[in-house]
Amino acid sequence: MSHTSNPVFARIAGTGSYLPQQVLSNDDLVKRGVETSDEWITSRTGIRQRHIAAEGELTSDLALQASLRALEAAGVAAEDIDLIVVGTTTPDLIFPSTATILQHKLGVAGCMAFDVNAACSGFIYALTVADKFIRSGAAGTVLVVGAETLTRMLDWNDRNTCVLFGDGAGAVVLKADHETGILSTHMHADGGKKDLLWNPVGVSAGFKVDEHNAGVRVQMAGNDVFKYAVKALDSVVDEALVANGLDKSALDWLVPHQANLRIIEATARRLDMPMERVIVTVDRHGNTSSGSVPLALDEAVRSGKVQHGQLLLLEAFGGGFAWGSVLLRY
Ligand code: ACO
Repeated sequence: MSHTSNPVFARIAGTGSYLPQQVLSNDDLVKRGVETSDEWITSRTGIRQRHIAAEGELTSDLALQASLRALEAAGVAAEDIDLIVVGTTTPDLIFPSTATILQHKLGVAGCMAFDVNAACSGFIYALTVADKFIRSGAAGTVLVVGAETLTRMLDWNDRNTCVLFGDGAGAVVLKADHETGILSTHMHADGGKKDLLWNPVGVSAGFKVDEHNAGVRVQMAGNDVFKYAVKALDSVVDEALVANGLDKSALDWLVPHQANLRIIEATARRLDMPMERVIVTVDRHGNTSSGSVPLALDEAVRSGKVQHGQLLLLEAFGGGFAWGSVLLRY
């Protein structure tokens, strides 16, 4: 049998991440006048602190640092990238895409580059798209990034949302591999739940805000989002296991979206996974939306927790609603 008749997998060849320098603790929020407490935030969400991008530091700048680290880890030069996909809901500009801005900052030109907006599921959606490009033979080396400056669209007077989010970026380099890599991807969306988690301004809808200044910020019905998230994640992790004929005991690591420790614990319980096998960064990063899964993955790889050959389940849920999972052998 010829070598090329083997299936082509998209395998993670390197990971990288970047967090802005400024750290804002829960107590710092209280000092800023937010009516909250470290006790409330920690007990409801598990978040202790988050990073905040500096003035003038853009999503593409965070993406660039994460990408350089991922490229170095993979031993891949920027010139060798066939495709750049950036998952983000906080692009630098309306257009061009943050992916093209990142491409230029990487000092290259010519390869395909585009953004994917799936709110907090942006990275796993981007990873899914990249996987399809590699499996179809349309690309051999892909840079996949999740990068956000979500704190730029927070209302710091709204304690329901401002305590939850942070800025950051993560990246992976995917390479075509004949042995193993991404085994399955399962993405879903339900646009009927738009109003439960959104930022209702935009180009076509207009940037006008009402008298309560309610249109310029992230708005969320936290309780509803929580319930939908737990249910959707339960079913999407089951779906991944069934599709691959795997028992939950086969998983080595769960790398979940980092929105809320209680949501993460609920998914871990569903999988009978002890928290020692779940990657948790939400305590230090807050919810970095598209950045959260690749940030968690990079931390797990660089700390030596995740080893080559292990089975990882990545999942995310966010605005849209959009959610999904990626099962891969690292
Ligand atoms: N500090 C102190 N009190 C607060 C705060 C705060 N920061 N925020 C809300 N409260 C109060 C509320 O006003 C309410 O007071 P009341 O009972 O007097 O009305 C009380 O705390 C309880 O509020 P709930 O909303 O019921 O609290 P809950 O236990 O549901 O926790 C939370 C809220 C943390 C937001 C939770 O619902 C959650 O995590 N939801 C999911 C959010 C999420 O994952 N979002 C991101 C999805 S990904 C994306 O795409 C962006």
